[in-house]
Amino acid sequence: AQGPDREGRPDMSLCRICGGTVTEFVEFGRQPISDAFLVPGRTDGEYFYHLAAGLCQSCTMVQLLAEVPREMMFHEDYPYRTSESASMAKHFELVAKRFLETELTGPDPFVVEIGSNDGVMLKTISDAGVRHLGVDPSAGAARAAERAGVRARVDFFEKTSAAAIRQADGPAKVIFSANTFSHIPYIGSVLEGVGELLADDGVFVFEERYLADIVASKAFDQIYDEHYYLFCVRSVRNLVERYGFELVDVEHLAVHGGAARYTVARPGARRPNAAVAEFLDREASLGLADLATFTQFAANAKVIRDDLMTLLRDLRAKGKTIVGYGATAKSATAINYCGITTELVPYVCDSTPDKQGKLMPGSHIPVRPPAAFSAPYPDYALLFAWNHAEEVMAKEKEFQESGGKWILYVPDVHVV
Ligand code: TMP
Repeated sequence: AQGPDREGRPDMSLCRICGGTVTEFVEFGRQPISDAFLVPGRTDGEYFYHLAAGLCQSCTMVQLLAEVPREMMFHEDYPYRTSESASMAKHFELVAKRFLETELTGPDPFVVEIGSNDGVMLKTISDAGVRHLGVDPSAGAARAAERAGVRARVDFFEKTSAAAIRQADGPAKVIFSANTFSHIPYIGSVLEGVGELLADDGVFVFEERYLADIVASKAFDQIYDEHYYLFCVRSVRNLVERYGFELVDVEHLAVHGGAARYTVARPGARRPNAAVAEFLDREASLGLADLATFTQFAANAKVIRDDLMTLLRDLRAKGKTIVGYGATAKSATAINYCGITTELVPYVCDSTPDKQGKLMPGSHIPVRPPAAFSAPYPDYALLFAWNHAEEVMAKEKEFQESGGKWILYVPDVHVV
């Protein structure tokens, strides 16, 4: 193993957005790339980086202090497939239908998605015969999108690729992105790209996990390499205004443990919705710009870590079996920060074909298909995919019916 540890690292850096001072509030130590599943027997040279997050004292953007090179995270073999969750697939079908009914009713509209993954959203757009393009650096995901009838470009979305798309396809009425925009440290280039590509009356709409929910649910595992920024309305407004856009709407979403959908337009093109000011007021009262809020968040994470490890060790000491459920990217932080090993959790079940048969990053806990879950059922299942709890528990209801129990660790360690 190679890579950095805490030793000698500064706990301050410059904001990637405004150049202000970013003050570290939490560190999770040496961490692997969250979606870099390993082939058994080929674990040498695994890459590690130091995971710490901080708050910009000027523009309030919460961000990581260290960056993993983008090609190491997002490449041909990036294993995540959005469609693995039926409820997320439904969510994106509704997003697409709403665009078709609202923004995409004019003559020959064009829609672009940044981080289109397996085409889960654009499939509905494609089926409606609307011009579209998905942009995603993962060739594997893009091939899956193409199989669903979606037009995809294997590329990173940034100023140059956006200009090339405009040249070839003309302006976009809608640019959409879900759980991708915040993954990109050089986010200014993405917004410059949006500036190149967006029609004058178009909208840039993006969905991201919402900082207020992360803080409220103590979801420390939402911090990992791919979540370079953790957005709130205030920091997003500051960000988009720097690049000549206006934040015109915000909606709260129940997905992924709490998310927000932001709508951005060229200044004056749309009348801002009252929701923007309402969110800003609520965020001020929640202390989302205050370092003390995040110092408490870090203290909460330590309590969860200690409680979870005590529970897992106690259960194992009593001879109980525990299996992990959902080889999520989030679980990289949970597993490696808490120090969960194969002695406590011998394997993790996951429905994603490209994760099965591999080893979890850092911990090297094996990943098995969902069929392994019931053969036989463990006494306890540690739900790393807690954001999909409803869907997973419904699917696995026989587990609970046969006496099995779920362990959850946000907002506190509890057993159901
Ligand atoms: P996510 O939290 O980043 O969406 O990742 C969810 C992971 O959990 C992904 O690897 C797919 C997996 N999963 C299952 O194995 N079974 C399920 O029922 C669901 C919804 C997800």
